[in-house]
Amino acid sequence: MKPKTLRTLPDLRREMAAWRDKGLRYAVVPTMGAIHEGHMQLVREGLRRADRVITTIFVNPKQFAAHEDLDKYPRDEPGDLLKLGKAGSNAVYLPRPDDIYPPGFSTSVSLTGPARAGLEDRFRPHFFTGVATIVAKLLVQTGADLAMFGEKDYQQLRVVTRMARDLDLPTEVIGIPTVREDDGLAMSSRNVYLSFAERRRATAIFQNLNLAAEAIRNGRVPSQAAAQAARRLRDQGFKIDYVTARNAETLARPSIPGERLRLLAAAWNGKTRLIDNIAV
Ligand code: PAF
Repeated sequence: MKPKTLRTLPDLRREMAAWRDKGLRYAVVPTMGAIHEGHMQLVREGLRRADRVITTIFVNPKQFAAHEDLDKYPRDEPGDLLKLGKAGSNAVYLPRPDDIYPPGFSTSVSLTGPARAGLEDRFRPHFFTGVATIVAKLLVQTGADLAMFGEKDYQQLRVVTRMARDLDLPTEVIGIPTVREDDGLAMSSRNVYLSFAERRRATAIFQNLNLAAEAIRNGRVPSQAAAQAARRLRDQGFKIDYVTARNAETLARPSIPGERLRLLAAAWNGKTRLIDNIAV
């Protein structure tokens, strides 16, 4: 069914109040559009846990640096609404810029902990402030019981989870496993940028993370297994930003035997930067 579109903050508030009045529990799926199977899975998982799902679409300028792809970020509202309807999203919030950043906007969320793990934050210094600020706003504006995030952006998931806990936001943050193409490539809105040859090569990131995870499970020192994965990827033509094993919750470097680990990678495949991660 076609989802109800809510284009202003007052529209959103009215609809959310109506859901509350009916005693419904609802989940929010925050997105920047360019909806793919990964987002659709977040909607379906939201519907498994709550009575209604609201998806938000807003390409957030505050999480892009000047040299990044804000202007060419893929936008397709009709296609997005069709896919979200197919997944079962009951409503879609497409706020006007002023609904998110009213004139004179001067507040942002300041972060440490997982936001300073030296992963995405090292290469995109403004990114998590932009993400955390808009996510805080979307959780407050929607008042959702649950917020659905993909594990694909693992550091983002950890940052948002920590923020919601630290600020006593009443929304429970839920992480959902990465949805992958048949060859293992993590679904991402940026995959559309890949040429045919780059697309074929892209699966190597997931493959090498799996080899490293297996080596760690077999007793290899995590930093050595990650370094080997980075070497292999470099040999296959990637430019590496990082391949590293971290504590799965804090994203700190491993320090305790037996702690739960996550392997994370970011690498350039031609002009496209890909990220991925897996549990060890
Ligand atoms: O993951 C994304 O698409 C964005 O970072 C988010 C969470 C929608 C915030 O703009």
